[in-house]
Amino acid sequence: MSNTTTKDRGCVTPALFKCAYQAPYPEVRVVKPSAYYAQLLLEDYAGQVSETTAITQYLYHHYVLEKEYKEIADLLSCIALVEMHHQEMLADVIIKLGADPQYRTIGPNNVETYWSASYITYGTALCDRISADIAGEWSAIANYRRHQSIIDDPYIKAVLERIILDEMHHITLFNQVLYQYCRPV
Ligand SMILES: [Fe+2]
Ligand SMILES: [Fe+2]
Repeated sequence: MSNTTTKDRGCVTPALFKCAYQAPYPEVRVVKPSAYYAQLLLEDYAGQVSETTAITQYLYHHYVLEKEYKEIADLLSCIALVEMHHQEMLADVIIKLGADPQYRTIGPNNVETYWSASYITYGTALCDRISADIAGEWSAIANYRRHQSIIDDPYIKAVLERIILDEMHHITLFNQVLYQYCRPV
């Protein structure tokens, strides 16, 4: 017999308490399998604007900013861990919907487009990088909202709603960096 709780499973690290919105995560489940819903969620999982893009973009920004801006580099890796948790939850939903969570989207006629490192905004300096990170969070929220309106499954809607709370929190954290480091003087 297992008494494992949701909190004990998966990607749970101290970063989830610092860079995640302070609220519990819903149980990952689906009403029934759906290839169409999986197709929509693959966009959030590994499309151009996706958790996979967010993870790799924030880690790249973490690497290149670490020497000059240690505190901001730490924030970026902390947020990247939360994005990994989002990716994990989406993979779980996609599997439960009956699809394979390879890092790709499935378009019309079942054409597969694999995730590309060209999706990342690499940037050239601190402020354009953090601005791009904020823009990515807003785009992700817009996509989640669009998919929420299409997907008629209360369990999936709840997962997306909870992810949106984290993305809003990330915008607040990144805006604090912009305010502190990127104000015109
Ligand atoms: Fe995310
Ligand atoms: Fe985020």
